[in-house]
Amino acid sequence: MIYATLKSIASYVPPTCVANADFEKFLDTSDEWITKRTGIKTRYFALPSQSTSDLAYEAGKKAMERAGVSADDIDALIVATLSPDYLTMPSTACITSYKLGIENKPAFDISSACSGFIYLLSLAKSFIESRTYKRILVIGAEKVSSVLDFSDRSTCVLFGDGAGACVIEATEDKNAAILDVHTSANGKHQDFLCTPRIQSVSQSIFSDKLESSKSFCLHDSTYLQMKGNETFKLAVKTLVSDVNTILAHNTLQPKDITYFIPHQANLRIINAVGEHLSFDEKQIVISVQKYGNTSAASIPMAMNDLYEANKLKYGDLMLLDAFGGGLTWGSALVHFGGES
Ligand code: ACO
Repeated sequence: MIYATLKSIASYVPPTCVANADFEKFLDTSDEWITKRTGIKTRYFALPSQSTSDLAYEAGKKAMERAGVSADDIDALIVATLSPDYLTMPSTACITSYKLGIENKPAFDISSACSGFIYLLSLAKSFIESRTYKRILVIGAEKVSSVLDFSDRSTCVLFGDGAGACVIEATEDKNAAILDVHTSANGKHQDFLCTPRIQSVSQSIFSDKLESSKSFCLHDSTYLQMKGNETFKLAVKTLVSDVNTILAHNTLQPKDITYFIPHQANLRIINAVGEHLSFDEKQIVISVQKYGNTSAASIPMAMNDLYEANKLKYGDLMLLDAFGGGLTWGSALVHFGGES
């Protein structure tokens, strides 16, 4: 039996560290509010000259080095992002594959907002188990700062830039396998998180479409908008039920999990979910205080921090759980299959 294994993990953190106090200089906000409501203390922003594919390149290169593979060994590259280099084409994955020297192999993007990394795992698992590809590079990469409205205090303080990458390859060792991945979506609440003006929905030539698009846009804006409160409540409920479902499906309990790595959007969401699921504090991986919400990059960046702290060992079982714009959500049970 062929399984997919997460062979390596790596991340890239862009150079500009921005503290909460930096926002006080131009917004009616405070370190106290941001810390109390979100747990975030800092986030990192990419340089103006860096695009999402540059961040993806750095993380992808390190993930290949850690897996001991070269560009020629990669059969496909998939990037998850809500902040691509170009709005429609070429894909960020195409540009990243060029930068990495991965030639003449399939490369494409997926758009699942903060759930992007779970969707990547689902695709990689299927491609490998079906023997379509032997080795895939998956990258969650975001320059979220490129779609933030820095006059909107309710969103711009929440997000950060970064990238996380994994080499996923075939194995016969079930103890190193990606055990299960669940992904879901429901467009009913598309207005909870959206970038209204930069997609075809607000550029339609059909007046009726245009009218209906206006009904779900909060403002006529190019930037990311979020109904934070509504999203918060739904996020906690969905994340808890998603974890319970995947655990039951695999006859596992929270105590069987080495690390629970939820999407890093808000410390209050992570704590609420952790309490509902009775995970021990030591099992829950938290990096939101350092990086803010890096969307599709958040779970692999948190996982990389574990790895770099020498806490991730071959065979450790991680439970990943994400929720984001779409709405989309998903969870995954993943053994670490790399070297410590
Ligand atoms: N500084 C000071 N005050 C602020 C700030 C700020 N940065 N932002 C908002 N406020 C004010 C609001 O204006 C409001 O004031 P009012 O009471 O006078 O109207 C007050 O603070 C409370 O605002 P709420 O929105 O109710 O605050 P809440 O406690 O809900 O926290 C937050 C907001 C942090 C956005 C939270 O709702 C949240 O984390 N939501 C979920 C985010 C999430 O999970 N997103 C999904 C993934 S992201 C993705 O897919 C891209």
